[in-house]
Amino acid sequence: MADSPYPELKKSHVPERVGRPYADYKPPPSAPVWAVISGFGSYHVLVAALELGVFDTLSDRGAHPGIPPEVTAPELAQELEVSAPHLEALLDSLAVLGLLERVGGRYALNDTAARYLTTDGAASMASLVPVAPGPLGNWSHLADTIRAGRPADPIDDNPADFYRPLVEGTFATMLRAATRADLQVRYSAMTAPKVLDLGAGGAPWAIAILKACPAATAIVNDLDGVIEVARRTTAEHGVAERCQFRPGDFHTIEIEPEAYDIAVLGHVCRTEGPDGTRRLIARAHEALRPEGRLLLADYFIAPEPQWSPHSVLMAMTMMASTVHGFPIAAAQVATWLQDAGFESLRLIEPIGHQYLYTATKPRNLQQTKEGE
Ligand SMILES: C[S@@+](CC[C@H](N)C(=O)[O-])C[C@H]1O[C@@H](n2cnc3c(N)ncnc32)[C@H](O)[C@@H]1O
Repeated sequence: MADSPYPELKKSHVPERVGRPYADYKPPPSAPVWAVISGFGSYHVLVAALELGVFDTLSDRGAHPGIPPEVTAPELAQELEVSAPHLEALLDSLAVLGLLERVGGRYALNDTAARYLTTDGAASMASLVPVAPGPLGNWSHLADTIRAGRPADPIDDNPADFYRPLVEGTFATMLRAATRADLQVRYSAMTAPKVLDLGAGGAPWAIAILKACPAATAIVNDLDGVIEVARRTTAEHGVAERCQFRPGDFHTIEIEPEAYDIAVLGHVCRTEGPDGTRRLIARAHEALRPEGRLLLADYFIAPEPQWSPHSVLMAMTMMASTVHGFPIAAAQVATWLQDAGFESLRLIEPIGHQYLYTATKPRNLQQTKEGE
């Protein structure tokens, strides 16, 4: 349809057509479309900068007294042994994305880059960025996935190879969320909780709890080929001797009934589909002692999906690359938790964009009466 050179006078918006009094009509800007198109390039600018060591090199300069932290593109190109004009284009792109400081032709880390994009940053996402979208090829075939109802190359065919780098990359963020969750969950007030961490990845939840409770112990579960990550991270955090590692499928491994004070389902449900999630919630319920608590972390969709854009897009990421990945609605999870017998549900956000349901297995009324 041909556009009018004077869009505010478009015939399609005259009162006779729209049934409303005449109002100036401005066509919407194309900015949201451009934002999406350039999103692809922006992502790869960041991945390239990380691969070339841009942020770590700038960080190293900042750590040496006497060396100015700001650098020109040719100086940095020499240090990184790359083409200066190409690097300058990359650095300018990072600057317009808000991921680098550019003043008077010199570049330096800004606070965002120092915190999230250096390997040693306080909340480093440096190893997460390259793996976070899942296999990139699956995005190119998204329309086919939506037609067929499953991806052509699902990660389910080789989960260990996919999850190993992913859980390495998410570990720092999840450990921050798990540690900060204590402000509201107060697991540190427990004396010697027994923890069951299913699909633990690098075991950020178990580690946070074991560090806060010196007498706590944990069963750490993940698939063969991924559980090695937890063996390493728990050793690095000095809690490995209080962990028992139980490799295998969390749907079928043996779990002692009514033996645990805390059960964790950390970001495992949204790849499981509704049936798998309900089965995991039921397993957690069975594993918990009366008054034990389930911690279920995920990217929950709000009642109106547009209220939770991050969760909606994380669900899309899962659907693009897994067979059972699905958008996990906050209200739906609450119903499943209650159906399984949990009560005292709380939904908290320990750090930005990270959500956690806590739910309690009720006290066994029969036992209480007998003990009275
Ligand atoms: C997104 S990661 C979450 C890791 C960790 N719980 C966290 O919160 O950061 C999902 C984890 O579930 C594990 N996983 C997936 N399917 C599994 C299964 N059937 N049995 C056990 N672990 C599984 C993966 O290997 C991966 O470590």
